Amino acid sequence: MRHLLEIDDLSPAELQGVMALATVPDPPRVLAGKGVALLFAKPSARTRNSVEMAVFQLGGHPAYIQADEVGLDTRESVEDVANTLACYYSVIGARVFEHSTVERMAALDRVPVINMLSDRAHPLQAIADLLTIRREFGSLEGRSVAYVGDANNVARSLALGCGMTGMRFHIASPPGYTFPESDIDRIRATGMEPVITDRPEDAVKGVDVVYTDVWTSMGQEGEKARRLQDFEGFSVDGRLMSIAQVGAVFLHCLPAHRSEEVAMAVVDGPQSRIWVQAANRMHAARGLLAWLLSEND
Ligand code: CP
Ligand code: NVA
Repeated sequence: MRHLLEIDDLSPAELQGVMALATVPDPPRVLAGKGVALLFAKPSARTRNSVEMAVFQLGGHPAYIQADEVGLDTRESVEDVANTLACYYSVIGARVFEHSTVERMAALDRVPVINMLSDRAHPLQAIADLLTIRREFGSLEGRSVAYVGDANNVARSLALGCGMTGMRFHIASPPGYTFPESDIDRIRATGMEPVITDRPEDAVKGVDVVYTDVWTSMGQEGEKARRLQDFEGFSVDGRLMSIAQVGAVFLHCLPAHRSEEVAMAVVDGPQSRIWVQAANRMHAARGLLAWLLSEND
């Protein structure tokens, strides 16, 4: 059974297949008569709504479930919850704190499991990011992305997605917030050597895409004060954008904290493609679901 816990659960060719399905004008109604369980342990604006609409467009029924209601590992075990949902639904999507939670669901192999964001990965976001970059530049091969900020879930999936599609990936993070060696090895396994620095100016020099995410992710709220200090100097502002390639675009997975990780003039400015990117979340989810359903048929 195929699951999507991280983008490199797909081969590069499969990723291209997902992206092709994401953009077909008349998506196959592979979910007709079927339901998709969408389990959320954290808040969401884009993920919940884009996946719900993607399920609807494929002919299926999305069911939103709050993790607190089913009581993951409190009322009953993650395994018992997932086994229960598999009795009614054809796919389980889950947004969780610990990545091991989606791994435990997938290990049951009852129905395909999609990671809708864990502390390690955000593969649906990365697929939408690739669709956005491809639409902007016509192709992905040879393009470059600089991510400025925390080497977190979003950065990790994005780096892998870049490597899998022939793009280059640079990242600038403060000391202590960069990728551990095991992540760098996994990124290298795509055949791409990432550029890793603690100087934002070096990362963005000449790139096609400048990307950032919040400095304090969901679940890290207790570290906010320290992070605000540690990430000083890592804001994406007009000066940083001017070091990138002429015609470079700005991306952010959202939600954005204006005047923290990104200046208002950038996130709301002419180089920003955040709303195309947000719209692509629905196309990415539809492509992935269509692919997963046909793969597990
Ligand atoms: N980018 C993203 O996943 O947004 P939400 O947290 O609103 O779903
Ligand atoms: N890194 C952020 C992404 C939100 C979509 C978080 O995990 O909160």
